[in-house]
Amino acid sequence: MIEPDFLRITRTAYDSLAARYAELFANGLTDFPLDRAMLGAFADFVRADGGGPVADLGCGPGHVTSLLHSLGLDASGVDLSEEMIAIARAARPDLRFKVGSMTALDIGDGSLGGVLARYSIIHTPPERLPEVFAEFHRVLAPGGHLLLAFQAHDDPAEPAESFDHKVALAYRWNTDHVATLLTGLGFAEKARLVRAPLESERPFPHAHVLLAKAPPA
Ligand SMILES: C[S@@+](CC[C@H](N)C(=O)[O-])C[C@H]1O[C@@H](n2cnc3c(N)ncnc32)[C@H](O)[C@@H]1O
Repeated sequence: MIEPDFLRITRTAYDSLAARYAELFANGLTDFPLDRAMLGAFADFVRADGGGPVADLGCGPGHVTSLLHSLGLDASGVDLSEEMIAIARAARPDLRFKVGSMTALDIGDGSLGGVLARYSIIHTPPERLPEVFAEFHRVLAPGGHLLLAFQAHDDPAEPAESFDHKVALAYRWNTDHVATLLTGLGFAEKARLVRAPLESERPFPHAHVLLAKAPPA
């Protein structure tokens, strides 16, 4: 199958920057207490629901996969970039990491208790976002939890707005638009958090949205 340009471009860009990206997050999420709070709530919900396997999709160098593991989850990572996956495997040989794309996951239907997509939907062209969300819905078990993080914007008239991300073309999303797409697929929203950017980040709001896949009626 021919790979879409946006996947090839994103992979190539992250391959070339993987070592530098890993260095930037060598201290994990120490400087991100609100992000850790949402990840902690996500982990609590997944464990309370039976603690099924959790996939960190677009895991980069695996620092958040490692955090999820430390929170008691059976966490593994998937990323487009072979270089990112090589770094993640070297850092945590005890965890499972594999190369793959969120657009077509090599994961069975209903097999996961949780999906995390932290800043990894940002390179998906707006017209492809519904198919990525459908993959998240497919791989989660009923009752399974989804946590998304992304750069946000407030204008409801614009579902997505492109910005000059340092790595590759990226989109920040209107949070209501994201929530509407997901509830339309059968997710129920549990919480959202919109925080101010840190000094080191682009001057955009940062959104976390936590949802659960509704059980069959
Ligand atoms: C901004 S980094 C975020 C890394 C990590 N999740 C974090 O929180 O720091 C985006 C990552 O998503 C990956 N990515 C982007 N699109 C992807 C896709 N369609 N499938 C899998 N990984 C993807 C990139 O290769 C990159 O490693």
